Amino acid sequence: MKLKIAIFLSGGGSNAKAICTYFQHHSKIEVALLLSNKVNSGAKDIGNAFGIPYYTFTRDEFYATDNIITKLAHYQIDTLILAGFLWLIPENLLDAFPDKIINIHPALLPKYGGKGMHGMHVHEAVWKNKETESGITIHLCNKEYDKGKILFQAKTNINADDTPTDIAKKVLALEHRHFPEVIENYLLSI
Ligand code: GAR
Repeated sequence: MKLKIAIFLSGGGSNAKAICTYFQHHSKIEVALLLSNKVNSGAKDIGNAFGIPYYTFTRDEFYATDNIITKLAHYQIDTLILAGFLWLIPENLLDAFPDKIINIHPALLPKYGGKGMHGMHVHEAVWKNKETESGITIHLCNKEYDKGKILFQAKTNINADDTPTDIAKKVLALEHRHFPEVIENYLLSI
């Protein structure tokens, strides 16, 4: 049986799409469920395009019930992938998936991490500080934002005339290039 992963997303889901594409015909790993806290996220379109079920949940459901765990068990999910998912993971999920929750962050942690540091906020902070490089961090999740064990980082140069949007584009390209493969290597090595 293939290892089944679930992807959590809050936004457009370009990373979720890259991961679904990568594993579409994979012999050992499949994306079996998409989950989102936003009704207008990319989950529905991606789910329909790839024939993957998707599920939208509320804050109460996520933090005050075991519904998500029940749902994940129903689909026999082995690993959770956070691809632009912005809520802190509650303890019941961390306990149910020890070392099996992988997040991507659009900066070189430990810099530019923590609560409120997501998406364009990160790239604007990097730009304001006139950093000459940024990048991506793929890491395991724990109780704190962006503090779990780092699995992989990749860097990109920032030119003096790059805008925050330019930085975002460079970082997103790195995410699409590396995230699926890092997931694959991690899952096949544990
Ligand atoms: C990605 O850049 C991801 O690194 C970031 O949200 C974006 C989602 O894009 N995640 C965070 O900032 C988490 N702190 P996508 O919806 O197009 O995949």
